[in-house]
Amino acid sequence: MKRRIVVCITGSSGAIYGARLLRACSKIENIETHAIISSAAETTIRLEMHKERGEIEKLATYSYGEQDFEAPIASGSFITDCMIVAPCSMKTLSSIATGFEQSLVTRAAMVALKERRPLILLTRETPLNLIHLRNMVQVTEAGGIIMPPLPPLYFESKDMVELVDLTVGRILNMVGVKTDLLREWGKEKLTD
Ligand SMILES: Cc1cc2nc3c(=O)[nH]c(=O)nc-3n(C[C@H](O)[C@H](O)[C@H](O)COP(=O)(O)O)c2cc1C
Repeated sequence: MKRRIVVCITGSSGAIYGARLLRACSKIENIETHAIISSAAETTIRLEMHKERGEIEKLATYSYGEQDFEAPIASGSFITDCMIVAPCSMKTLSSIATGFEQSLVTRAAMVALKERRPLILLTRETPLNLIHLRNMVQVTEAGGIIMPPLPPLYFESKDMVELVDLTVGRILNMVGVKTDLLREWGKEKLTD
């Protein structure tokens, strides 16, 4: 069976993280992606990437509307391996933290948590207020992983896409997918 990864892009800055994640998955054999792009993300995709939603959806194996509660990923009976929200807005974070299943993104996240499947949120906002921080604690206590997309500057990457891909490599590594996007600090110093 193919590895099934749910990828959601919500309306915080950083739509490129979700897009690059979908692109990376599309190049790995044996992965199928199930994507949801929120309507707010349509705006960030347009403003930040100068692309239309459909162009990003094409990178996914399957894609769903944010109100499509009939989608397979709305049910725990549909087996998936993990869910990644990249990037995750503070609005979506708060819906997940409070279990307010008003969209397929939150419903699928609730499914991931109840089924004890990995749920990774690339929460993006700065600075953070106490409500944001409490919501992050709440999701962490429920089993989710808060992973703000903070670029590793120690690799001295030359461009933004390369920096984004380092984070994409880290995410995929966390869910057990090996990819050459992952770089390991100090690896070259190891002798056999
Ligand atoms: C250009 C732009 C950048 C935004 N950046 C952020 C952000 O970094 N973090 C955030 O939480 N919301 C951000 N927002 C606001 C969200 O888009 C807004 O809260 C939206 O309701 C989120 O909806 P969603 O979670 O359903 O995608 C941004 C909006 C725009 C237009």
